[in-house]
Amino acid sequence: KQVSVGVDIGGTNSAIGVVDENGHVLAKDNIKTPDHGDIKQYIEDLSTAIRNLINNAKLINENIEVLGIGIGAPNGNYYNGTIEYAPNLSFEGIVPLADLLKTRFEDLKVVALTNDANAAAIGEMIYGGAKNMKNFVMFTLGTGVGSGLVVNGDLVYGADGFAGECGHTTLVAGGRLCGCGALGHLEAYCSAPGMKRTAFELIAKYNATDSLLADKSFKELNSKMIYDAAVEGDKVAKEVFELTGHYLGQGIADTVHHLSPEAVFLFGGPTAAGDLIFNPTIKSMEDHLLPIFKDKIKILPSELNAGDAAIVGASALVWKEIE
Ligand code: BGC
Ligand code: NA
Repeated sequence: KQVSVGVDIGGTNSAIGVVDENGHVLAKDNIKTPDHGDIKQYIEDLSTAIRNLINNAKLINENIEVLGIGIGAPNGNYYNGTIEYAPNLSFEGIVPLADLLKTRFEDLKVVALTNDANAAAIGEMIYGGAKNMKNFVMFTLGTGVGSGLVVNGDLVYGADGFAGECGHTTLVAGGRLCGCGALGHLEAYCSAPGMKRTAFELIAKYNATDSLLADKSFKELNSKMIYDAAVEGDKVAKEVFELTGHYLGQGIADTVHHLSPEAVFLFGGPTAAGDLIFNPTIKSMEDHLLPIFKDKIKILPSELNAGDAAIVGASALVWKEIE
């Protein structure tokens, strides 16, 4: 039985899974992504975790053949297998992660790395709702906002391998400071920390001491709490989703103008809020679209199983390479 290993590098955790050809996760593990620059130890920990996981999977089924490792990472570069200047990671400069793992897993056919949102797009294309689509876009909402662009059946990489950084679309001239250092980017409004900032701004604006979110510290607050409060009818929480959708729809409309996709998939924690996030996003997108695009573009939730989606997407990169 052939399997591949998927690694999703997130701001706080790195998730690792052994995944079969049907996208089923056979074994998984988690290690901390370092919050300081000590990348050497991290590479060791990651390699050990991958080895252990492969060995565990082989204990369950000794006929397992591991074809490779696929990695999804913020600011990942597919051409070079590098992670470069990631605003939401502590890694400094350029980290040649694919090469570092290749020397430790010489027995494997493939060690490939791509942008985390690209990995999600590949997962959607192979196992999810984009199976029969040649033109679609994936937006991932999390600590950062990423995107993967599929045009005429292929993922778009561009000259340098970084195409599709739609989270850094400028929405507000002179607006909020983004993690990357620029002002007014979509990510500064629609990421999980961006939504928290919106909540804090609204509480201050309305002096909403009665809001269910008013007594939370920035650290404590998360998008699930905002969702729960919105379901309870909390005015601030509901407006957070309205505004997040407003900004997201604006950014999506730009991407639609560039690429003319059939659908846009949303992926990540905040999408669990369903209509609360989808309705304002769809409305805002339609408001900002050229008439030739209106009422044509579907905005859909990712069909990948939320818990495993990032790992499955990353592992799918291996199948795509072998193909
Ligand atoms: C990074 C992207 C990444 C996204 C989600 C952004 O800040 O620039 O490369 O896909 O966060 O992690
Ligand atoms: Na991307």
